[in-house]
Amino acid sequence: MDKNELDFITQIVTDVKPRKIIEVGTADGDSSTLALATGLYRNGTGHLDTWEINELYYNNALSFFKDNVLKQYITFHLGDFLSNSLPTEFFAEVDLVLLDGGDTDIGDGIFPVSLAIFKYVTQRVGNIDFILHDWNAGRGHYVKQYLDKLDWSTFAFKKELNSPYGIAHIKKEN
Ligand SMILES: C[S@@+](CC[C@H](N)C(=O)[O-])C[C@H]1O[C@@H](n2cnc3c(N)ncnc32)[C@H](O)[C@@H]1O
Repeated sequence: MDKNELDFITQIVTDVKPRKIIEVGTADGDSSTLALATGLYRNGTGHLDTWEINELYYNNALSFFKDNVLKQYITFHLGDFLSNSLPTEFFAEVDLVLLDGGDTDIGDGIFPVSLAIFKYVTQRVGNIDFILHDWNAGRGHYVKQYLDKLDWSTFAFKKELNSPYGIAHIKKEN
């Protein structure tokens, strides 16, 4: 992600002041994970649970935060987010979700796993904020198309950053 996108993420964390954040797609940890944890550090409270399916990336992220004060705000999970065993109570404290993980394009801009992750989370949470990366093209855009079909139903658009891939802040309201 570029600097503007990372600042956009940190700003949302300092605005929302989440108790718990879920992130799907840690990658090397030095980008969106760092931006989320920076927001929590500024808030002085809250916790980030982040998932990465690729063991190499997961280990890179652990190394990146090894001697970093921000580590106390983060729990790193290795594995497929959709195979997690989170209890219902966990979701009750989640206030913010950043989605930047899922499948690569299987053709024609279709990302079924990314949409499945979005649906999985939305079925388990109430009023919470979402940050969706690739809002202009890619995983987030596929979710946007789904929301457009639903006429946004119980979701509200908050703001977006028109960066090359695009990143948006939306809210689930119900
Ligand atoms: C676009 S990258 C994330 C980039 C990262 N957020 C950043 O700011 O640099 C997507 C990541 O999601 C991971 N991923 C894909 N499917 C996943 C799943 N089902 N559960 C957890 N992680 C997944 C991939 O291995 C990849 O590292």
